[in-house]
Amino acid sequence: MQFKDYITKLPAYKPPKLIAQQARDVVKLSSNENALGPSPRAVEALQRAVNNVHRYPDFSAGALRQALAAQAGLPSESVICSNGSDELVFLLCVAFLREDDEAVMANGTFISYLLRTLEVGGRAVQIPLRDYTHDLPALVQAITPQTRLLFVCNPNNPTGTTNGAAEIHKLLEQVPPDVLVVMDEAYIEYVTRSDYPDLLPELRNGRRNVILLRTFAKIYGLAGLRLGYAYGHPEVISYLDRARPTFNVNALAQVAGIAALSDTEHVERSRAHAAICRDFFARELAALGLQPIASETNFVAVDVGNDDRVSDGLRERGFTVTPLSGWGLPGLIRISFGTEEENQRFMTALADVL
Ligand SMILES: Cc1ncc(COP(=O)(O)O)c(C=O)c1O
Repeated sequence: MQFKDYITKLPAYKPPKLIAQQARDVVKLSSNENALGPSPRAVEALQRAVNNVHRYPDFSAGALRQALAAQAGLPSESVICSNGSDELVFLLCVAFLREDDEAVMANGTFISYLLRTLEVGGRAVQIPLRDYTHDLPALVQAITPQTRLLFVCNPNNPTGTTNGAAEIHKLLEQVPPDVLVVMDEAYIEYVTRSDYPDLLPELRNGRRNVILLRTFAKIYGLAGLRLGYAYGHPEVISYLDRARPTFNVNALAQVAGIAALSDTEHVERSRAHAAICRDFFARELAALGLQPIASETNFVAVDVGNDDRVSDGLRERGFTVTPLSGWGLPGLIRISFGTEEENQRFMTALADVL
């Protein structure tokens, strides 16, 4: 056998030090899941659908794509669904990066952009964050004739920061037409800033070189089902559609996704919960003498000095968080919001560790 170098060089997945779902009394604040649970409408739909799992799913996810298209005011040819939006990152790299092609991205952003770029033999050009935020002018400057993809995570995981409409539109003006701008909007539903960019009109006006990644794993509370989607130009979507595995979105995910989309009450409740948590953590972390990064999401990142030591201490006290040294942000941890009661207990544990 001959293994590909690009793949053997990638870091192997390490089993988590503590699998929160299996350990009693452990609160998982490490994956930015929805602390309020799944959409109740999705759960009902799943219960009805479960007796049909001997059937293959609709390989085109037609009904779900139609629902997503209607929500965005786009034709369903502008929508692709995936096994989590993580799969879309993979598909984009497979479909657009030849060996030694470049993908430009931030250093201090969602790690999949880097891993999937390297996996297909592409070159990752990583640009430091500025004030924990994507440095858009520097990202544009890094574009070369070899660049095929430009990743922008807005809001950014793991810092929770956003870029506003004016600077994003400026970026879109400056990026050459043969570079695809991948806007990862996994946390879009949580954003409160009024000048957050709405890029759907760009697609309605026929722009080809931007694609918007979204997920059902965050505000809709369906992380375990693995369901993501993207809005893009029909030509780009049809190209990606050829590259995807035939039955990439399972039947239960399709049914649950349609139900969750209509569950505005659950979305509103989740949004309101995140807003309360943001204020809570901003206040409580400051009271410990820390300076949390202002977040527009369902998590917050904060510099605690030694991220590994503090994460270990929190784990011993029953809480998993994400240390960010491995994401290019040494000293910081990322805390996903729990229930109000979990958050209270977490702050007591953190004070104890510090
Ligand atoms: C920015 C960002 N993009 C994509 C994903 C992947 O989401 P999914 O669960 O849909 O694969 C995540 C998950 O944490 C994320 O934070």
